Amino acid sequence: MTYQINGKEFSQNPRAGQCLRTFLRELGHFGVKKGCDAGDCGACTVLVDGEPVHSCIIPAFRADGHAVTTIEGLAPDGGTHPMQQAFLDAQAFQCGFCTSGMILTCASLNQAQRQDLDASLKGNLCRCTGYRAIEDALDGKTNIEDAAAGTAFGRSLPAPAGPRVVRGEARYTFDVAMEGMLHIKMLRSPHPHAKILSIDKTPALNVPGVHAVLTFEDAPDRLFSTARHEKAWMDPDDTRVLDDVVRFIGQKVAAVVAETEAAAEEGCRRLKVEYEILPDVIDPARAIAAGAPALHSDKTPEQRVANGQRNIVAEAHGEYGNVATALALSAVTYEGTFTTQRVQHAALETHGGLAWIDSAGVLNVRSSTQVPFLTRRALTEIFDLAPDKVRVFCERVGGGFGGKQEMFVEDILALAAIETGRPVKFEFTREEQFISTSTRHPMRVTVKAGADRNGKLTALQLDVLSNTGAYGNHAGPVLFHACSESLGVYNCPNKKVDAVVAYTNTVPSGAFRGYGLPQTLLAVEAAIDELAKGLGISPYEIRRRNVVQPGDPLLSPPGSGHTDVLYGSYGLDQCLDLVERAMQADGPKIELSPDWLIGEGIALTMIDTVPPGGHLADARIALRGDGGFELIVGTAEFGNGTSTVHRQIAATALATTVDQIHLLQSDTAHGGHDTGAYGSAGTFVAGRATQSAAENLANDLKVFASTATKTNPDTCILENDSVVCGRQRVSFAQIAETARAQGQALSATGTSEGTPRSVAFNVQGFRVAVNNGTGEIKILKSVHAADAGRVANPMQCCGQIEGGVAQSLGATLYEEMVIDEGGRVVNPKFRDYHLPSFADTPRTEVLFADTTDALGPMGAKSMSESPYNPVAAALGNALADATGIRFTAVPFKPDRLWPMLHEKFGEKTARSR
Ligand code: FES
Ligand code: FES
Repeated sequence: MTYQINGKEFSQNPRAGQCLRTFLRELGHFGVKKGCDAGDCGACTVLVDGEPVHSCIIPAFRADGHAVTTIEGLAPDGGTHPMQQAFLDAQAFQCGFCTSGMILTCASLNQAQRQDLDASLKGNLCRCTGYRAIEDALDGKTNIEDAAAGTAFGRSLPAPAGPRVVRGEARYTFDVAMEGMLHIKMLRSPHPHAKILSIDKTPALNVPGVHAVLTFEDAPDRLFSTARHEKAWMDPDDTRVLDDVVRFIGQKVAAVVAETEAAAEEGCRRLKVEYEILPDVIDPARAIAAGAPALHSDKTPEQRVANGQRNIVAEAHGEYGNVATALALSAVTYEGTFTTQRVQHAALETHGGLAWIDSAGVLNVRSSTQVPFLTRRALTEIFDLAPDKVRVFCERVGGGFGGKQEMFVEDILALAAIETGRPVKFEFTREEQFISTSTRHPMRVTVKAGADRNGKLTALQLDVLSNTGAYGNHAGPVLFHACSESLGVYNCPNKKVDAVVAYTNTVPSGAFRGYGLPQTLLAVEAAIDELAKGLGISPYEIRRRNVVQPGDPLLSPPGSGHTDVLYGSYGLDQCLDLVERAMQADGPKIELSPDWLIGEGIALTMIDTVPPGGHLADARIALRGDGGFELIVGTAEFGNGTSTVHRQIAATALATTVDQIHLLQSDTAHGGHDTGAYGSAGTFVAGRATQSAAENLANDLKVFASTATKTNPDTCILENDSVVCGRQRVSFAQIAETARAQGQALSATGTSEGTPRSVAFNVQGFRVAVNNGTGEIKILKSVHAADAGRVANPMQCCGQIEGGVAQSLGATLYEEMVIDEGGRVVNPKFRDYHLPSFADTPRTEVLFADTTDALGPMGAKSMSESPYNPVAAALGNALADATGIRFTAVPFKPDRLWPMLHEKFGEKTARSR
């Protein structure tokens, strides 16, 4: 067959049944991505005769005789197409995994299609940006600025990888080809709870191309947690690489390693597994009741399982004052029970990686991870390897949102590479992503709250039941975090928490953006609004009367480990003012019929800027011979902007421009330790290490220049790529040359231990319209104010907030993993799960408080996950304001709202204002 790909003719026959996506990737067009392989996401978009198509659902032979354009060929001769330039100017990407497909679709639109972007972009999903920067690109807006030497911090500088991202040249986990690579496919459990009695490997090994079948008999008999934290005591040791007991549908049973994916899949089909079915428990309330089947009865508190016989992974109980008495004496009280569902991170790049053993005997793992250093630590422990015999690294990661703070593939990759001695690749399908990685913890939260006549809180109580699924990764820390800042942000003399997290025979929960707070805030912020309503004061006023102020203790009953949380800066009051003012302004005029009810709601959140219990980062920076600098940090880039911000910090400290900072990151073979990019620590913790290293080197440069110029180092300053000592100016390049001649290398290191920690704040406001006849919701206005300290990069921070609000709106309005009574995920596809598309996502007005944090790098605070947290709560409050009904279960789908609306308003009873 003859194809024209990116203007060049060539002939090759695809394999029988091969789709165009894999055909193009095998030819080296790595800009063609995989997000779903089902035609739902658009990551694989290419142009065929100028028309955008999803190449994953087009048979490759259909392109015979047609002109195919991938992102690499959109602009001739390696140039930049106007749409690629527009994406650069607007910085219309974060992780960039959707960007190739998105640009190709946008570049193909005619004027009429551009007028209807809701329809035109419905085939291209972006999980990171919230789509507004993409709309900006189509509108020709420029969101970036320049910065003179020494002024990078605080400016909206573009991401350094931008040109490679928009041209499809940025290399993600699977964008490499290796000689002799084998492929792994996994046989997964069809049962929610069973013991594996035997696995007959022979039929699979007889499949041509199959090299190995790995089962529990081949895996180290060692327990660990897939969760990755600096301190192992945070998570239970309840998991094996491959176990002889399966505890959820989708759990790993056996890995088949073969020359091709097809052979590995055939091997999986032929494996014969004999199971003994065990009783299962799907509901968390039933799981902790007496007599329920125990999933981990063999685990003990020493393995950090609080009560294996009762399926309790962790629990927290505590009280300040006396809540019962305070409630009895309160002028107003509220009690309600709220439920939150399972949601998936849905990063467009699935989990996976490659592993090989190099000629020096080092196990190399190239992985889609947020935590390369902690993953290396786990591999050394599980496989008894010396740290210098394991290297884990990532190049560019296609989204994480907490889901890649786990080790789901690297252990299998390591086992397969060790067993076969060949390079191996393991790439999850989208279905595997849904049924076998981790999700947000579903929670049932009962809140009790009281206030006196003056609107001062008298009592706050939370009763939480969290569902961790079959394994306890992140179960305890998420539970404690959920109950901590949600109560800690309010001054109240009587607080109580009773919280339990239960094992069930369902897909595990894990770290997810917000780390439990969105679930509890839905209840707490509803209670605050209901108290205000009972007292006849505004939602803003009751919060102003009760939120913590600098100097107030940050008290929450489950934790005593908050002594290192300080008010590095405080902007919650500003955030409330900013949202209140913005909400008073008119939104766009929309004509609505009288059956639309209109209401407004707000919610606030506080978050510690670093996870508790230790979070470490080392940075190293060295002067290069050309006068530039090489900066090495361990933290990963997965759309969170660390590669931009770290260069800004270093460039500012060294009085230079960001183009002089050459960054090497997220590779255990280079630099010191880094706990990882989670809990928004990439800026706050690793940024402080970078600042420290750069300031140390700046000082060394001054001393070196003063010696060379025979001046007092106190009179030397760094200025525009030079050190100026009195009237003498010595360029960095001259210093490097002099140092080299003296046999010296100028470099410095910096360390951050993640303590003391600060607090960041966010306030979200919504104006919504709800149709009282259908339950349909329209968002008329969305405003978000954030206290991010001194904002390191306003454009990027704004993007994090827009993306966080959009992702949270998905979890508030549509997204839900449905699990049937047998424990099976019934909708493991984007098509059935409903990620927000361009049309679903309103523009959010983003505002910043004006503060400078005393603890953060150059005054900045973290702001990657917290914008997600108040969204469901604010929307619930807006719905209650509009309808007078308190909806207590997310997602707020029309079919869930309708029965209560119908009961209250009957057949289209109109009410408007
Ligand atoms: S990978 Fe083709 S549409 Fe998702
Ligand atoms: S930038 Fe769109 S999915 Fe990450």
